[in-house]
Amino acid sequence: MCGIIAYIGSREASPILIEGLKRLEYRGYDSAGLAVVGDDTLDISRSVGRVRGLEEQLGRETATFSGSMGIAHTRWATHGGVTVENAHPHRDDLGRGHSIAVVHNGIIENYLTLKKWLEEKGHVFASETDTEVLAHLIGELYDGDLERAVQAALREVTGAYAIAVVCAKEPDVMVVGRKGSPLMIGVGSNEYVVASDPSAIVAHTKQAFTLDDYSVAKLTRDSFRTSTIDNIEITPQIRELELDLGQIELGEFEHYMLKEIHEQPTALRRSLQGRLDLRGGSVVLGGITEHARHLATAKRIVFVGQGTALHAGMVGEYLVENLAKIPAEVEFASEFRYRNPIVEPGTVVIAISQSGETADTLAAIEEAKQKGALTLGLVNVVGSTISRETDAGIYLRVGPEIGVASTKAFIGQLLVTTMLAAFIGRRRFLSQEDLHNLLTAMDRVPDQVESVIAQSDQIKTATARYVNRDNWLFLGRGLNYPVALEGALKLKEISYIHAEGMPAAEMKHGPIALIDEGMPVVVVATRNSQYEKVLSNIEEVRSRGGHVIAVATEGDETIRSLCEEVFWVPDVPEPLQPLVTVVPLQLLAYHAALMRGKDVDKPRNLAKSVTVE
Ligand code: F6R
Repeated sequence: MCGIIAYIGSREASPILIEGLKRLEYRGYDSAGLAVVGDDTLDISRSVGRVRGLEEQLGRETATFSGSMGIAHTRWATHGGVTVENAHPHRDDLGRGHSIAVVHNGIIENYLTLKKWLEEKGHVFASETDTEVLAHLIGELYDGDLERAVQAALREVTGAYAIAVVCAKEPDVMVVGRKGSPLMIGVGSNEYVVASDPSAIVAHTKQAFTLDDYSVAKLTRDSFRTSTIDNIEITPQIRELELDLGQIELGEFEHYMLKEIHEQPTALRRSLQGRLDLRGGSVVLGGITEHARHLATAKRIVFVGQGTALHAGMVGEYLVENLAKIPAEVEFASEFRYRNPIVEPGTVVIAISQSGETADTLAAIEEAKQKGALTLGLVNVVGSTISRETDAGIYLRVGPEIGVASTKAFIGQLLVTTMLAAFIGRRRFLSQEDLHNLLTAMDRVPDQVESVIAQSDQIKTATARYVNRDNWLFLGRGLNYPVALEGALKLKEISYIHAEGMPAAEMKHGPIALIDEGMPVVVVATRNSQYEKVLSNIEEVRSRGGHVIAVATEGDETIRSLCEEVFWVPDVPEPLQPLVTVVPLQLLAYHAALMRGKDVDKPRNLAKSVTVE
C-alpha cells in the first residue's frame, strides 16, 4: 500500500528518495513521485508505473532536483484513477499557493466537505484525490509557520493519515504527522529519514521513533520537536531497529518469495527459541504471562485477521478448541468490526497480522477493546500499531517479509498460534505428557520443513504438467482445510490462476460440477483423524476425471497409487501438520507464477500491508 520516504539533512535528497522508494516497492503501488526543495525551489516529478520509470523521468526533467530535503511516495490508488495527476506529491494551489507539497498514506474521510469549503474560497483542484485537499487546506491555513499550519489542518480532518509536508518558503523545515497509518522517523547524525516502514530507514540509521496518533514532528537538519496536533509537546522514545540490511536484500535468491520460503526453517527456529521448555514441560510466552489466568478462564476466544492471517486464525480456532477446550471462533476482522459483535465478559480477541498495520484488523481490535475484551496481538513487525494497541501479545519473530505473498509469516503465525493453544491448554486439561510430546515434535519441525523445501524441483516438474489449466480446486479437512484455502490464495494471488479452496466434503454440494477431464485438484491428505474421509473425496474427484495432486504423509502407498502427483511431508502430530503441509503449496504457487511469466514479488493490484479499510 502507499509508501512514504522523506529526507532532510546535508546530502542530496533525490538519490536517497529513489533508493527508499525502491525499498518500499514491495508494499504495492501503481504510481510514484517525489518533491525536492532547493534554494527557493520546489521541484516535483510524478509518474505512473514503476519507480524505475520515475528515476528515468528525473534524468529527462529540466529542473535540477537539487536540494537536501525532499519527500517521495508510492501510491496505491484509493481516490481517483491511476494517473499522473493523482500521483503524489500534491501541492497547494499551483500558482497562488505557498509552494507546499504533501505526501500522504491513508484516507481523509471528510475530504469532500473540506474540498467544497476550499472551492468556495477559490481553490482550484488538479486531481481527484483526498490528499490534494489536505495540501490545499494546509496552504489555506499557512501564515509563515508550517508546523502550525499542519497542526491546524490535521485538527480539521477525520480519517487516517501519515503525511510528510515541505514548503519552499521554509527550506529548513519538514513536518510529518500521523494518525492510524504507519510512519517512522530515523534519527541520523544531522539528518532524518522518515518512512512508512524500517526497510527504507536501516540503510541510513538504526535509531528511530514512531509518532503517536494525532501527533506531528517538526524536523530541521539538526533537531526535532514532537507535539500533539494541539501543540502539546511530547517526548518520543527512540529505539534501536531490529533489522539488518542483509535481511531485506535478495542475496543469492531470484525472488523474495523464494528467499522467504527457504528462510522458513530458520524463522521457525528463531520463533521457538527460548519458548519451549522441554525439561520443565512448559511453553514460555513472556508477552502474555501476566494474562495467563485470564486466558485459562476465558469463556470464548475469537481470532480476527484478513487473508493469510485469517487462515492462521482458522487453525487457531481448531487448536484452541482441541488443546485448550475453550469455545473458539475465527472471523474476518472486517466483518467482526461492523456487525456490532457480542463481546461478553471472558471474551478474548486475538488479532493475527504480519504487518501489524492492517486497517481492518486494527479496527476489529478497537471494537473489541471498546467492548471490554482482553486483546492479544500475534504480530510480526515489532512496534507496529497492532502490537501497540493490543493489551499483550506474542511476536512471530520470523524477520522481515518483503514478498507480497505471505509465506514465512504464515508459518510463524501457525507456530505461535499452536504455542498459544498449548500454553492455555496446559493450564486446563492438557496433560504434562501430552504437552511434552507436542513440544518435542514441535522442536523437530524446522528440520522437517527443510526436507519439504528440498523437494522444490519435483514440485516444479509436477506444476509444469498443470500450469496451463485455468481452474484449480484445493481441498482439505479439519486442520488441512485452512491449508487448502491458503494454497488456493497463494496460487491465485501470484499466478492469477483461478483457484478455490474448500472443505473436502463441501465439494460434492456444488463445486463438483466444475470437475472435468484433467482438472487439477490439490488435496491435502495427510494421515490424521480425517484421513479415511479424504480418501473418499479423492475417489469422488477421480471418478469425474479430475487429476489429484496430493500432499501426503511420507510412505503412504495408498495415496501413491491413487493420485497423479504426490508431494510428501514428514509424519508429524496432527496439530502440527499445517506447518509442513503448506510448504509444497507455497512452492507450487511460486513455480506456477514463474512459468506463467508473472512478477512473483509484485503481483498486480496487491499491496503488502493494507492500511485502508
Ligand atoms: C496473502 C497476504 C494477505 C495478508 C493480509 C493480512 O499472501 O499476504 O492476505 O495476509 O493482507 O495482512 P497482515 O498479516 O499484514 O495483517
